[in-house]
Amino acid sequence: MPEILVLYYSQGGAVREMAQLVARGVESIKDVKTRIRTVPKVSANCEATEPDIPTSGAPYAEQKDLQECVGLALGSPTRFGNMAAPMKYFLDSTTGLWLKGALVGKPAAVFTSTGSMHGGQETTLVTMMLPLLHHGMVMVGLPYSEPELSSTSSGGTPYGASHVGGAADDRPITEDERKLCIALGKRLAEISLKLAA
Ligand SMILES: Cc1cc2nc3c(=O)[nH]c(=O)nc-3n(C[C@H](O)[C@H](O)[C@H](O)COP(=O)(O)O)c2cc1C
Repeated sequence: MPEILVLYYSQGGAVREMAQLVARGVESIKDVKTRIRTVPKVSANCEATEPDIPTSGAPYAEQKDLQECVGLALGSPTRFGNMAAPMKYFLDSTTGLWLKGALVGKPAAVFTSTGSMHGGQETTLVTMMLPLLHHGMVMVGLPYSEPELSSTSSGGTPYGASHVGGAADDRPITEDERKLCIALGKRLAEISLKLAA
């Protein structure tokens, strides 16, 4: 069965929760399933290493996950208006796939969580798209036919799903944000299946 890779990094859990909602949207489509993966932390200390298998949660992504899946949902917390270093570090390791053109034509979607409302959701989402466009991926956003895009008073953008966690990162995912995560996963799965056919 074709699979969609839901690849995320999360420190506090907000993006992990969003990833589960995106996966729920993917799995609302018949004949497709999700492969959920995360990436290890990076350290300024080059001696530090993470175990090969995380102690809890999703397994760490390998290059073959990107190659084998028909679509990609990529999630990261916003860090200074951009994606978090562990996700960028992983993407920077994908030169081999880029040289082979392994991801050309595959659809991809992005999602993020911020502390503050205007803390860089759009900049993070758009800059997350850049390496994926270099890979030749086809970006999937959220159209305004999703009513929550107009009704939301927190996260949710046409560039991808988003969540405002608040200064203490303790705000729950709102109903509008939740529906938009699911809608993004569903739309990604539908388009991925069509393009893979
Ligand atoms: C180093 C660092 C930089 C951050 N930069 C931003 C930022 O630019 N804008 C913002 O709104 N929140 C920023 N945050 C807050 C996180 O984006 C926010 O807490 C997010 O919801 C965390 O997601 P997670 O729970 O999946 O780790 C930053 C947090 C850290 C630790």
